[in-house]
Formats: sequence, C-alpha cells, structure tokens
Amino acid sequence: MNKRKAVNLTSTVSPQKSGHKPLRETKKELPFPLNLYQSAVGKKWVMAITGLMLVGFVIGHMVGNLKMYLGVLEHDGSAAYDMDIYAEFLRNLLVPILPEGVFLWILRGGLLTAVILHIHSFYSLTRLNIASGRSYESKQDWLASNFASRSMRYSGIIVLAYIIFHILDLTVGATSDEFVHGAVQSNVVNSLSNPVIAGFYIVANILLCVHIFHGIFSVFQSLGVNNPNINRMKRGIATAVSGLILVGNVSFPVAILAGAVEYNECDPKLSVAEQVEENCVNSSGHDSDSDDDSHSESEGY
Ligand code: HEM
Repeated sequence: MNKRKAVNLTSTVSPQKSGHKPLRETKKELPFPLNLYQSAVGKKWVMAITGLMLVGFVIGHMVGNLKMYLGVLEHDGSAAYDMDIYAEFLRNLLVPILPEGVFLWILRGGLLTAVILHIHSFYSLTRLNIASGRSYESKQDWLASNFASRSMRYSGIIVLAYIIFHILDLTVGATSDEFVHGAVQSNVVNSLSNPVIAGFYIVANILLCVHIFHGIFSVFQSLGVNNPNINRMKRGIATAVSGLILVGNVSFPVAILAGAVEYNECDPKLSVAEQVEENCVNSSGHDSDSDDDSHSESEGY
C-alpha cells in the first residue's frame, strides 16, 4: 500500500524536526484514477474540463433557445411553437433504444456532476491556497488578473443562485400558477414578461459571461499552456465566446420585454396553416401535455 506522508507546504524539514504542525493532515491515497484528484494539478484539470463542459452546455442551450424566435411551425400535422417541438425532441432523444426522457435524465446527471465537481475543485484549490499562503495561479497570472478574475467567486455564487431559481422557474414551474408542463414558449414568455425577473436574468447572464471570460482565459494556464505569446489569442477566444453567449442570452429577456417574442393562443377553428400564418396556437395544444403523466415535467435545454 502506498502511504503518503503529511505535507508541510511551507518547509521541506519534517514537521517533527521543525516543531511545526503540518498544514494538511495525512490523507490516504485513493486508487487510480481518483488519486489524480488529490493533487492540485489534478484539481485544476477537473476544474478546467468541467468548466469547458459547462460552457459547451451554455452554448448549446443558448442555440436551442434561439428557437423562440422562430414562432409557430407545422409539426406532425398540427401547429406548435418551435420551442415546444424542440423540447419534445429532447425528451425523445435515443427513443426507442431508451424509454422517453431517459437520455435527457442521463444528460442532466452529467451536467449536475460537472457542476458539483467544478465547485468542489474550486473550493479545495482555494483551501490549498489558504493553507499554503499563496495563490494557486502563477505570479504572472496573478499580476495579469483583472476585475473578472478577482470576482470569480462572487460571480460563481450569483450564477449558481440564478441556475437554482431558473430551474424552479422554467423547469419545475414553482414560481408561477400559469406554468404548464411542456408549454415551453408560453412559460418563458410568461416568466420574462415580468421586468423584475427579466432584469435578474440580464444581470445574472452578464455575470455569467464575466465568469466565462475569465474561466476561458485561465483554462490555458490550468491545462499547462503558459506561453505569454498567446495572451492575445487567449483574450480573443475568451472575448468571442463570452461575447456570443452574452448577446444571445441577454437578447431573450430583452426581446420578450419588447414584445418581439410572444406566445399567442388563437381560435380553435383556425386551420394549421392559418395558425402558422397568424403565429398562434390552438390552446388545446398544451392540454394534452399537461394531462399526460409521462410529460409531467417540462424537459429540455
Ligand atoms: C436568458 C437566457 C435563458 C433562457 C431564456 C433559458 C430558458 C430555459 C428554458 C425554457 C428551460 C426549460 C426547458 C424545458 O423545460 O424544455 C431551461 C432549462 C434550464 N436552463 Fe436555461 N435559459 C437561459 C439561460 C440559462 C443559463 C445561462 C444556464 C446555465 C448557466 C441555464 C441552465 C438551465 C438548466 C440547467 C436547465 C434545466 C434543464 C433540464 O433539466 O431539462 N439556462 N432554460
């Protein structure tokens, strides 16, 4: 069995000889590959990779949400909001290999694991820094840090609070009596028509993009790419990605407040083509979803 000695981060002299208490307690080494996560470098890799996965989700989610601009389309012989068709598509991913909704739950599990690991690696790296009395970032990186880097912790906390509210708001439907499971376009428009909620979404998404900007900038460092010659490129990539997400995500509450994205119900007598033409849906369209237990949750990205 491989036993690790207690590590005194400030001295190479053994704790017994120096008379100092070790800064970290002796930890049992975990089996491979879990032992990689016990080192600071391993934690940085986990923080970087989970961060990239989460940015990938945010981009995919934003692109999916662009469907709210497409309004009503014809689908399977009836008229439906493209946003709702998309949510249904996500529920049906890998059907019939897996039952409906199962793959979506697998994706959600992966997403939640990434969020937990991202926060845990940040937390334990911060504890290591405090214990060692230095920053886990290099001196150069620390000097180069700006408003974004110093606010990572605060932006992270607010983004986490936003995600919790957001899921309660648009997935669970805990914040409104008008919420209808499966009626994504109607739920989004109802929620973001409220200027207070829309304002919160805007502020949280700005902070998210500040967080992502610095995260992308420092991911190179975490993955061992330290060449100062690529600083411009790093800044360019970080600006492009966070700027794209900012424009996309802030556009949704702004467009809804401005009335450019709507949810309209129309006369049940209108034909499918007329509903598409008028950009409205026959209200009975959602009842089938909300009455059906298998759709008892609004699901999708
Ligand atoms: C203004 C921007 C955003 C809008 C309009 C929006 C819209 C939505 C909607 C409509 C849903 C429910 C989808 C459904 O039930 O089919 C949802 C779910 C979700 N959103 Fe967002 N979103 C936005 C930004 C974000 C951001 C920035 C994040 C993460 C940082 C995020 C994370 C999530 C998560 C985790 C879910 C739950 C997915 C699930 O469990 O199925 N969203 N969002």
